[in-house]
Amino acid sequence: MIVVTGATGSIGRALTGLLPREEVVAVVRRPAGLACAEAVADFERPETIGGLLSPGDRLFLNSSLWPGVADAQRAVVDLASEAGVAQIVSVSVRGARPGGPLGADPHGRIDDHLRACGVPYAILRPSGFMQNLPGEVRDGRFHGSYGEARVNYIDTRDVAAVAAALLTAPVGPSAVHELTGPESYTHAEIAAVISAAAGKPVAYVDLPVPEMTAHLVARGLPEPAAGALAAMMRDMGRTDWWSLSTAVRDLTGRPPRTLAAFAAEHAAAFA
Ligand SMILES: NC(=O)c1ccc[n+]([C@@H]2O[C@H](COP(=O)([O-])OP(=O)(O)OC[C@H]3O[C@@H](n4cnc5c(N)ncnc54)[C@H](OP(=O)(O)O)[C@@H]3O)[C@@H](O)[C@H]2O)c1
Repeated sequence: MIVVTGATGSIGRALTGLLPREEVVAVVRRPAGLACAEAVADFERPETIGGLLSPGDRLFLNSSLWPGVADAQRAVVDLASEAGVAQIVSVSVRGARPGGPLGADPHGRIDDHLRACGVPYAILRPSGFMQNLPGEVRDGRFHGSYGEARVNYIDTRDVAAVAAALLTAPVGPSAVHELTGPESYTHAEIAAVISAAAGKPVAYVDLPVPEMTAHLVARGLPEPAAGALAAMMRDMGRTDWWSLSTAVRDLTGRPPRTLAAFAAEHAAAFA
């Protein structure tokens, strides 16, 4: 079987729709009415996920982040190894490394554990998700501290497509896959793409880190995370969030979705 964690999430929902229905078990925290078999389990009780795994299964490892995520996912990796799982495909993030900012740290620790666990693995390291963008636009504006840096966004459906390809092909050599969309943009250019799709102006407002931190706090993010996120936006110009990989095309046989196509599909949300 293919056991899919995070099955109600943005990647997970797309993934369960791409896999052979009779081979999938979707791990959910509460019944979700997905179009495949569901099993209720929780990363905070890793044994509930471990109990779903049998020899030869393939595991898709993914969840949102919380302070205990690295311990929880590493415990599930250990249980998958004990169960004789044939492959783990996990979702990490571009630039993952222990000690890195925000999600880079837990993902770096999970990735290191996965590489050492003895189970064949595929670690997916996507850039930022296009699906974040609609929620950031309010009153015709969105904010950041990116300056003129070019950054990359990928559609989560392309992350799911890569995972589906890996989980349904014979288990290949373990690898880390950097996943990107097809183009990188400054945020002013992103605003232009969104404006064209929305049919009305949407402006990108660049803020210094302290002002961006205050903006994020006003939108409900706790202070330390807000400051770290604003600083990460500023630093994207100094780190590699713009270079492109061919992994989506190489692994799925078709190019990743463009930002223009995503914006057109979500025009109402942007407007
Ligand atoms: N956002 C970005 O730009 C970005 C970029 C690169 C990488 N990533 C990585 O992508 C991953 C998130 O993927 P996504 O966007 O598909 O997720 P998502 O839409 O945020 O959904 C999160 C999923 O995790 C499940 N979940 C959360 N806590 C759980 C727990 N304790 N036990 C079991 N399931 C739990 C949720 O279940 P419920 O429905 O029950 O809540 C949901 O299915 C994260 O690792 C993130 O670091 C994000």
